[in-house]
Amino acid sequence: MPDFDLAVIGAGPGGYVAALRAAQAGMRVACIDERSTAGGTCLNVGCIPSKALLSSTEHWAGLKSLADQGIETEAARFDLSRMMARKDKVVSDLTKGIAFLFKKAGVEFIQGRASIAAPGRVTVGEREISARHILIATGSAPAALPNVPFDEKLVLSSTGALSLGKVPDRLVVVGAGVIGLEIGQIWSRLGAKVTVVEYLDRILPGIDGELARNAQRILARQGIGFTLNAAVKTIARDGEAASVEIETRGSGELETLAADAVLVAIGRRPHTAGLGLEALGVRQDARGFVEVDAQFRTSVPGVLAIGDVVPGPMLAHKAEEDAAACIDALAGKAHGAPDYRLVPGVVYTAPEIAGVGLTEDDAGTSGRAFLVGKASFLANGRARAIGATDGFAKVTACAETGRLLGAHILGHGAGELLQELVLGLRLGTTLAEIAGTSHPHPGMGEAVKEACVAALSSAAT
Ligand code: NAI
Repeated sequence: MPDFDLAVIGAGPGGYVAALRAAQAGMRVACIDERSTAGGTCLNVGCIPSKALLSSTEHWAGLKSLADQGIETEAARFDLSRMMARKDKVVSDLTKGIAFLFKKAGVEFIQGRASIAAPGRVTVGEREISARHILIATGSAPAALPNVPFDEKLVLSSTGALSLGKVPDRLVVVGAGVIGLEIGQIWSRLGAKVTVVEYLDRILPGIDGELARNAQRILARQGIGFTLNAAVKTIARDGEAASVEIETRGSGELETLAADAVLVAIGRRPHTAGLGLEALGVRQDARGFVEVDAQFRTSVPGVLAIGDVVPGPMLAHKAEEDAAACIDALAGKAHGAPDYRLVPGVVYTAPEIAGVGLTEDDAGTSGRAFLVGKASFLANGRARAIGATDGFAKVTACAETGRLLGAHILGHGAGELLQELVLGLRLGTTLAEIAGTSHPHPGMGEAVKEACVAALSSAAT
């Protein structure tokens, strides 16, 4: 009999959710991770620490506007080391929570670097374990620029950029994606001169274009500089500083930006190095993603894969969905492959940027008749009362049936506001149903309702 029914490699939001779910279904489970704590990139060095620092720095940046409300804050100052210590505590409390859940469910956590020796056999350092099934949940790693490795001092990945010991005077951010904007905003609020260099002619590819344009305008007003249509060619280290060589697309003009730190946030790659997948014959696509079927089975029997190592949005909550579907299939329970069109995306800047489903741009090119409705937070009582009038809510819907096709929100708490629309999209809800649903007054959520009302009235005209 094998040592375990399931060996999960990787204890991130995909792996730990899979391990717990499998244990709850009665399987004997091991979860292996090279970090000493569970939680993966998301909890240890990604989503959670960045949200902790975004929160602390939002409080700091918000102090400037408090004088308007009769609150004097002239003597206020920040202590970066305490801010970082709080962030570390948020992380360690959460990782302890997972350790507790593992213990309670009887999941054995094994620390070490795992490789798959053969189907059913996993090597972790000196130890070899046997398992009926092996689940690869090793996530992703930051992509580096060619010939510019991360040193986490001058050339930073998100990991280094979330634990700097001092505020850099000049921070160049390569890539105006989710990581670049969130971490750029953290250091900008603390006083760094931040310049974001983006290859495309817009920020946040994939997000509704109107939202992205407005977000860029607001972030620029907060002091973040943007250089669009520019590719970073290389980064040269010069003692304590770096020079970033950028090439303007089209003209080919070269420019050099001096920086005290450079965050390279140009995407992430599936993390499969050292697992032995080639020798095992696990098929990967040209970009390195592990190929799986609807039940997350790879090309090798007994070897499964979920999360960032398989195609789909590289998001923690997508990995969790994969985990649930994969383990339910393994346990012989009814399941459906997750529908990635229903996976929301949130950028946790202030204002937040959140979206799910069809954007107005997608709807425009889809060839189908559609409705769009928008409501600005400027006209929202709660937004006025709390001083959060930036942004708007937008919905797209099918012109024939009135069913929701997508929702995109720029504004305070956009990620939470989006949730009713994610459910609405899943359930095939119509604009009229949302518009006819009572929303608390005064509430930011009234803008969601008003966007649906606006889309309906655009149909009537
Ligand atoms: P991204 O794919 O979101 O953005 C990368 C950006 O870099 C793109 O706009 C691309 O055009 C640009 N770029 C690429 N090469 C360049 C070059 N040489 N010069 C200038 N610009 C260049 O990738 P990012 O921000 O690194 O995030 C990685 C992953 O992590 C994403 O899948 C993201 O969804 C996920 N993530 C999600 C978060 C959230 O949900 N809040 C937070 C952080 C990360």
